[in-house]
Amino acid sequence: MKVAIASDHGGINIRKEIISLLEELNIEYDDMGCECDTSVDYPDYALPVAEKVANGEVDRGILICGTGIGMSIAANKVKGIRCALVHDMFSAQATREHNDSNVLSMGERVIGPGLAREIAKIWLTTEYQGGRHATRVGKISEYENEHN
Ligand code: RB5
Repeated sequence: MKVAIASDHGGINIRKEIISLLEELNIEYDDMGCECDTSVDYPDYALPVAEKVANGEVDRGILICGTGIGMSIAANKVKGIRCALVHDMFSAQATREHNDSNVLSMGERVIGPGLAREIAKIWLTTEYQGGRHATRVGKISEYENEHN
């Protein structure tokens, strides 16, 4: 598995924490910034990560901003992206099993690095269940194909 990861200025600490997790899990990653302490615009980071997932350059994406909300809204504009905003371990597992989410978004002003690490670990290691969920995820893809 290869993962693209990015944050804005509001998510740098959790991004560092998740990079150390990816290294511990021996997961290849592409760190796509940001590289600054000054204020940046989250779409400039969310969209390139989402594009990499959508075009198959990487398997998954992880995005962090202050709330995780802006990153998730932006990422979900890219066709083929199912970005889940997650701040608890139950949802981390459920969104992989049920939604086959391919991008994870978290907010550093919402949760701390320890919980973010556990969420990312579950999200990275939980398999999609398919079955009845595939019908539902398929309906989202159908809509996307018909309206884009
Ligand atoms: C930046 O101030 C903040 O708006 C951003 O990190 C994020 O929370 C947006 O949704």
